[in-house]
Amino acid sequence: MKVAVLGAAGGIGQALSLLLKTQLPAGSELALYDVAPVVPGVAVDLSHIPTAVKVTGHGKDELDVALKGCDIVLIPAGVPRKPGMDRSDLFNINAGIVKSLVEGVAENCPEACLGIITNPVNTTVAIAAETLKAKGVYNKNKLFGVTTLDVIRAETFVAELKGLNPANVHVPVIGGHSGTTILPLLSQVEGVSFTDEEVANLTTRIQNAGTEVVEAKAGGGSATLSMGQAAARFCLSLVAAMQGENIVEYTYVQTDDSDDAAFFAHPVRLGANGVEEILPYGELSAFEQSAKDSMLEGLRGDIKIGVEFVNA
Ligand code: NAD
Ligand code: LMR
Repeated sequence: MKVAVLGAAGGIGQALSLLLKTQLPAGSELALYDVAPVVPGVAVDLSHIPTAVKVTGHGKDELDVALKGCDIVLIPAGVPRKPGMDRSDLFNINAGIVKSLVEGVAENCPEACLGIITNPVNTTVAIAAETLKAKGVYNKNKLFGVTTLDVIRAETFVAELKGLNPANVHVPVIGGHSGTTILPLLSQVEGVSFTDEEVANLTTRIQNAGTEVVEAKAGGGSATLSMGQAAARFCLSLVAAMQGENIVEYTYVQTDDSDDAAFFAHPVRLGANGVEEILPYGELSAFEQSAKDSMLEGLRGDIKIGVEFVNA
């Protein structure tokens, strides 16, 4: 199993790479790529941890080497938010970064599963899809927007509120990854009931959790450690599924469901070839249905911006 992290010297990249160095199966290879000159040093640093995972570091002229032979590529490269910004404000810089890195994926490892972390995810995943289509190598079963952070936050906040062990709490989160497009399905949390007020407050907190971190970091960036954990969980689930385990994760994928949006986070059964099956997200409460109806136009608009960026 070869996994590449593109943007590996950044806040998410370093946390994610540490978790993968310690948790990927023995015999795996972890390739770290970044334009920042510190990346070979990050690789050397990690390589002193005694696990049977080989780590290599690649600077800005070595994207091809980093990507050759990859099974999974994770992209957290790009700029994070500062207080007062929306994720969509990152588009101008991050769209071009994602497009050029995905071109590298198309040229060097077109069969790899690709997890997009760079914001705005609602749009950058569409950019990745169009870039791969332009290169003639798009496989919708191998492209994922990593929305696992919304899931782990929802699980944490529900557990806190109800005095439960978060390890035993499972919260579905569907839709996209910004503001109201993040839709936790609290009506489906097993064994827990909520008042209407709790549902409204928890939903808002989950939707604004990224901003909570951005404001607390006061100009020093956005979530990196919790995102490193979320991306590692997603990647390790994919690795386990590729090796035959039956695993479902919520992730932002192409659904072809015209009632929702072209890309929409669903429960997805992962497998040897990426998406094995997109599962239905089940029945929504009246609150959730109304929240979904109100956010769909915005999510479709975010996707359209990505499609137009590549095809302009
Ligand atoms: P960061 O600034 O700490 O790190 C970004 C890294 O990307 C830097 O090391 C930089 O050198 C590198 N980079 C920039 N351009 C590159 C290129 N062309 N090729 C390779 N590397 C390049 O930022 P961060 O906190 O790690 O966040 C990264 C991105 O992840 C941001 O866009 C942020 O909004 C997003 N994010 C997404 C989620 C999510 O849930 N999907 C969560 C948190 C952050
Ligand atoms: C998050 O949800 O923490 C990320 O998308 C980063 C951000 O800008 O909020």
